Amino acid sequence: MKTRITELLNIQHPIIQGGMHYVGFAELASAVSNAGGLGIITGLTQKTPKDLAKEIARCHEMTDKPFGVNLTFLPTVAAPDYPGYIDAIIDGGIKIVETAGRNPQPYMEQLKKADIKVIHKCTSVRHSLKAEAIGCDAVSVDGFECGGHPGEDDMPNMILLPRAAEELKIPFVASGGMADARSLVASLAMGADGMNMGTRFMATKEAPCHERVKEAIINATELDTRLVMRPLRNTERVLNNSAVEKLLEKEKELGSNIKFEDIMDEVAGVYPKVMLDGEMEAGAWSCGMVVGLINDIPSCKELIDGIMSEADSLITKRLEGMLSA
Ligand SMILES: Cc1cc2nc3c(=O)[nH]c(=O)nc-3n(C[C@H](O)[C@H](O)[C@H](O)COP(=O)(O)O)c2cc1C
Repeated sequence: MKTRITELLNIQHPIIQGGMHYVGFAELASAVSNAGGLGIITGLTQKTPKDLAKEIARCHEMTDKPFGVNLTFLPTVAAPDYPGYIDAIIDGGIKIVETAGRNPQPYMEQLKKADIKVIHKCTSVRHSLKAEAIGCDAVSVDGFECGGHPGEDDMPNMILLPRAAEELKIPFVASGGMADARSLVASLAMGADGMNMGTRFMATKEAPCHERVKEAIINATELDTRLVMRPLRNTERVLNNSAVEKLLEKEKELGSNIKFEDIMDEVAGVYPKVMLDGEMEAGAWSCGMVVGLINDIPSCKELIDGIMSEADSLITKRLEGMLSA
């Protein structure tokens, strides 16, 4: 399949693995890229720019296909060493960066000078248009269904994707709620040039997260995610557990007086405990509603090959068949 995204990124299939904190290590990124998609290393999971440089080098040893790095611009006062991370990306020969969170404008000139393609992740049409205006090469349009931060507009992809298609000139991928060939074909029909998946890629053989995380994903239904941190305007979609229930109780009790410090126990330092040690009740961790569609743990190649061959038959048999009936 050839789309503006496969052409732009020089990949075989229009499928991207979104950056995921403490999941997007070289093992997963290289497996996705080797399977013909675009794997992405999560920059800030690496504690220092030097660590990121090592992770990039490790990934180069595991694949000769293109892979990217995610840089999430957090709304924090004590910002990470972003210039250092960007130097590591450029020096590591990375040609694709997925940015997310705040506007990547301060770093665009440097990234473009290094001939890097920038895909900015956005949860609204207005942010997507801003990304286009500042020179991003593509956007990842993240609907309300998504695992992680869906923003505050609560716009599901059935509306958001066609609206993005109406307004954008640059290519975009559909993100949030994507799991299979049905997701891909529907996204293409709505004007996207491919899809980005997070939660689905966690339940793969190569994802370097704890087996209990994969089991939790297999066992969960589409009813099992919750939105946390809404009162702080930093909404995150997470899988429900006892810590999330406690957090939601606090949000209810404290109302608009709630501060980040009140929920530190449930949200700070959680990822290594959950993803590496399998402490499933340690706190809130991102997970999309798409969890209800995930029932197996394939290899990345099995997953991607399956999606592409089923997409072919959906288009050429089911849809064509309806036309010629
Ligand atoms: C466990 C987990 C961690 C994530 N961490 C990040 C992150 O650090 N930076 C980021 O930009 N997106 C992050 N995301 C969002 C994904 O890149 C992707 O946009 C999202 O998962 C898409 O929705 P889906 O889960 O329905 O596929 C994370 C998602 C998950 C599930």
